[in-house]
Amino acid sequence: MSRAQRSIWKHDADSEIWQDRYYVNVEPSRSVDEHDIRTRHAIARELAAQLGPWKACLEIGCGTGANLASIQAERRVGVDVSQGMVEQARALHSEFEFQRVDLGEFLDPNRFDLILCLGVVQYLDSLELLLACVRRNLAPDGVLIVSWPNERSWFRWVHYLLFPRSRGNADFRSEEFVGMMSEQGLELLTFEGHSCAFPWVPDPMARLNLWLERGLSAFRSTPLKSWIEEHLAFSHIAAFRWRV
Ligand SMILES: C[S@@+](CC[C@H](N)C(=O)[O-])C[C@H]1O[C@@H](n2cnc3c(N)ncnc32)[C@H](O)[C@@H]1O
Repeated sequence: MSRAQRSIWKHDADSEIWQDRYYVNVEPSRSVDEHDIRTRHAIARELAAQLGPWKACLEIGCGTGANLASIQAERRVGVDVSQGMVEQARALHSEFEFQRVDLGEFLDPNRFDLILCLGVVQYLDSLELLLACVRRNLAPDGVLIVSWPNERSWFRWVHYLLFPRSRGNADFRSEEFVGMMSEQGLELLTFEGHSCAFPWVPDPMARLNLWLERGLSAFRSTPLKSWIEEHLAFSHIAAFRWRV
């Protein structure tokens, strides 16, 4: 089964619980997995608010649409390859447009000035699929906010040592990812790392892991910030402006 096929299968299976798991307002987060998704949403929301206003926002791999719903834009469109996710998104947010489509095929007649792609690149057979989608749909001078798994994260290394089969080939070093974006004319505006802890820890350890994340994240307000984000954070998120 290809990575893309696995993604459809996994997200169809997750679609019924996705909303409760990641958007329901349970504080503090119950696991680092939950914390990771919520943190990247919060960062994306703040970046979008700072860099806006927006006429049209597209979220690629929109899941149940809650993230898209939190972004201010005159037109909001979400696309996702999972039928289950799109059905949930339509039921929850009938005011926005949702399409069940693979990002490799998505083309809208009007370009978007903001594109979000959060927690998706690890499910793609190739990053080029996302880049081509961005070239087809982003307006000149538009902004892409995208997240990706950090290949340098020590926590990921330990996880892959323990569970070698969970290693995908979709982790990226920050300079590699930013370099690929810049080859497309996407200029880096901001960059952040988050979630300094072990990914996918089973429930009994989840709280302990969250404390580890909080402890290490506290150092992100010190001069150690960039070292911590480069070597410990297991996810990166950045905003790019398309200079064409
Ligand atoms: C981890 S979820 C993230 C959902 C949402 N972006 C969020 O941050 O809550 C990844 C989503 O990407 C979607 N996805 C994966 N591959 C895709 C593709 N090729 N085209 C469109 N959507 C895709 C999945 O179906 C899933 O809903």
